[in-house]
Amino acid sequence: MLKRLRFIAPALTLGLLITACAEGGDGAPAGPAATGAAPAADLQTLLATADPEKGKVLFLQCRACHSLESGGANKVGPNLHGFLGRKAGLAPGFSYSEAVTQSGIVWSAEALDHWLERPSDFLPGNRMVFVGIRKPEDRANLIAYLKRETGAQ
Ligand code: HEC
Repeated sequence: MLKRLRFIAPALTLGLLITACAEGGDGAPAGPAATGAAPAADLQTLLATADPEKGKVLFLQCRACHSLESGGANKVGPNLHGFLGRKAGLAPGFSYSEAVTQSGIVWSAEALDHWLERPSDFLPGNRMVFVGIRKPEDRANLIAYLKRETGAQ
């Protein structure tokens, strides 16, 4: 009896070890993905490889309402020259909603990313009639284009 236990105990331990290795070693990434949450694509990572030329095409959705060049006209939406890094609601001569002027937002890439995903959720009560851009890669490409075209550094 004792002899048999001596054999079984190490065998069990070995079995457990193999199971543990199989679970941890099958290439499943640790973190949010492993818990079933959507894998969060990191904005900075996406921006590092973003393509402003693709962003230019995406900007066709914005062009009816926004100009980008220095001294460009305010249209339905404000001229966006120099807006990155600045407080929201400061384009000269444009009449913003209170939602924007009272928001306290400073236009970082992160804030812009959230805004572009769904403006109505990010800042309820704002007057930008735009449904949003779902794909994080698209938003990063558009942000790269806006950085290039609005004189941001
Ligand atoms: C139908 C017109 C319209 C479209 C399309 C539109 N916008 Fe706007 N946008 C506005 C208006 C109006 C405001 C001001 C909102 C307010 O005051 O509530 C605004 C505000 C903004 C602001 C804040 C500017 C500031 O000075 O704080 C940014 C940034 C912006 N839009 C970017 C974009 C981008 C990028 C797109 C395309 C993906 C886009 N918008 C599409 C009308 C539009």
